[in-house]
Amino acid sequence: MSDESRPSPPAAPAAARTAAVIPAAGRGVRLGPGAPKALRALSGTPMLIHAVRALAASRAVSLVVVVAPPDGAAEVRSLLDAYALPERTDFLVVPGGQTRQESVKLGLDALPSGHDIVLVHDAARPLVPVDTVDAVIEAVRDGAPAVVPALPLADTVKQVEPARAPGEPEPVVATPERALLRAVQTPQGFDRATLVRAHETVTGEVTDDAGMVEQLGLTVVAVPGHEEAFKVTRPLDLVLAEAVLARRRLNDGF
Ligand code: C5P
Repeated sequence: MSDESRPSPPAAPAAARTAAVIPAAGRGVRLGPGAPKALRALSGTPMLIHAVRALAASRAVSLVVVVAPPDGAAEVRSLLDAYALPERTDFLVVPGGQTRQESVKLGLDALPSGHDIVLVHDAARPLVPVDTVDAVIEAVRDGAPAVVPALPLADTVKQVEPARAPGEPEPVVATPERALLRAVQTPQGFDRATLVRAHETVTGEVTDDAGMVEQLGLTVVAVPGHEEAFKVTRPLDLVLAEAVLARRRLNDGF
């Protein structure tokens, strides 16, 4: 049977359209004083633009929703206009909230219908390679309701009790088996309805979206993350990010 005569499956998961929500409303206090973290420059280009380009680099991503600092939506909109971005991708900007969770929810609320897969990606991870983005989308298309990119840990992790008084040493209470631990990155990928339900029903502090889906009792799966998808948090991370960009420029030159 030729490709032309083969009937195409109705609404096959492989045809599902993907939208990316990029929370970029954090102040980035740990990076030191200055502009909101996502608007700071890396090799002359705002971190947010790197992150937007990283997600839009995936041919599966047809819409990127940027969640701007609450008072910075106009500034972010003009930034997106000022930098070259793929024409096949649509972009939306919405103002964010007080917490990351609130910001992601505001991004989800702004999603038009027609996108069945949603990625949530920290603007603070500007250098994620497109292969990682595509691997996450692929795993959602294969049927997982929630997918995280994850890496094994180099350090041993200890669980501690809070110090009894400021400045006192913290008592160690447990050492989880390192081989079973993973450091989790973004983009995290979701079946849209599952993520919307998680944001509508799960309350309390969470540090990632997949954690909310776990609280619904659903299975979250991990795919291999990438060392270049690290989160720019502290001043040293800026140095590392500049070095990665310099290496990419060098490699592109050959
Ligand atoms: O603070 P943290 O590094 O965990 O932030 C992760 C991402 O969440 C960052 O991209 C940050 O801009 C975003 N964020 C947000 N709204 C907040 C706080 C953080 O969009 N209120």
